[in-house]
Amino acid sequence: MTQTLHPSRVSETQRRVEDDLVDRVVSSFDNCDNPRLKQIMQSLTVHLHNFIRDVRLTEEEWNYAIDFLTKVGHITDDKRQEFVLLSDTLGASMQTIAVNNEAYKDATEATVFGPFFVDDAPHVELGGDISFGAKGQPAWIEGTVTDTDGNPVPNARIEVWECDEDGFYDVQYGDDRTSARAHLYTNERGEYRFWGLTPVPYPIPHDGPVGQMLAAVGRSPVRAAHLHFMVTAENLRTLVTHIFVEDDPQLEIGDSVFGVKDSLIKRFEEQPVGTPTPNGRDLSDQAWTKTRFDIVLAPAHPLSEEN
Ligand code: BEZ
Ligand code: FE
Repeated sequence: MTQTLHPSRVSETQRRVEDDLVDRVVSSFDNCDNPRLKQIMQSLTVHLHNFIRDVRLTEEEWNYAIDFLTKVGHITDDKRQEFVLLSDTLGASMQTIAVNNEAYKDATEATVFGPFFVDDAPHVELGGDISFGAKGQPAWIEGTVTDTDGNPVPNARIEVWECDEDGFYDVQYGDDRTSARAHLYTNERGEYRFWGLTPVPYPIPHDGPVGQMLAAVGRSPVRAAHLHFMVTAENLRTLVTHIFVEDDPQLEIGDSVFGVKDSLIKRFEEQPVGTPTPNGRDLSDQAWTKTRFDIVLAPAHPLSEEN
C-alpha cells in the first residue's frame, strides 16, 4: 500500500503510475534484515517521492539539486562541514535535537551543537578566564548544575565555547591559537563560575552553496548572539545548549539555524566601568557584564527511572 499524498492535479492514470513506482521502490527494501535500516529507507522513499510529486519537480530542478549537493560535498573537508550547515539552516538539526531531547520536568532545553566545538579545550579553575586573549567585553557567568530533583551535581564537566567580538571562533583564525573556549568542573555544591566574553551575533560560514541558498531565499546567515555549553555528568543526560543575550536585535530578526529557545535567553547585566568584580579581577578601565545560568540535567534514562 502506498502512503502518498495524491496531487489532485494529475489524472487517475498518472497517479497510478506514480503510486506504482513508490510501491516498487518501497518493496525493494522488504528483504533488508536490519529492521531499523528497512524502516528508514522505506520511510525516506515515501517522503522523498511525496516531495517530488507534491512540487511536481522538473528535470531541470532535479539537475540543479544534484549540482547543489555536489557543491556542498566539494566544499566540505575536515574543517568545513557544509552538510551540517545545510542541515542546520533547514532546521533538520534542531528537529533531530527535539526528537532526541524530549522535555523532562524542568530540565534545561538543548539546542544545536554547531561546527566549532573542539575536543581537549584547556581546563580553567572556577572563576578563571576562558577568553585566553580573544577580544571582547568581559562577561562573568555563574550558576549551578542540579538534577531535576534539585540535587546539586558536583564534578559536572562544563565545556564552553564562543566567538570573539568580531564574530570569529579560534578555529577560524587560520593559526593554532586556542581562545574563547575551555572546560571546568562544578564544585561540591554544584556551582560553577567563569569569565567569558559578552556574546555577539555572527554569520555562519556563508561563502559556499548554503550561503547562496540563504541569499536566494532572502534569509540572513546571522546567528543570534550566544555562548555554547556542553555539560556531562554521570547518570545524567548530556546537555548541549547555548545561552542567548536578552535585547539582542537578532532575536527578533531570527536565528539562521533556529536554535533559540525562550528559556535560554538570559540578561547580561551591564556593569559600568569601575564596578568591583566578583573575584577581584582588575577591570578598572572597562565595562563588563554578568549573567546567571542555572542548569538542570535530566536523568540519562528517564523512562526506566519512572518504571
Ligand atoms: C554555531 O553556533 O557555532 C553554529 C551553529 C550552526 C551552524 C554554524 C555555527
Ligand atoms: Fe556558535
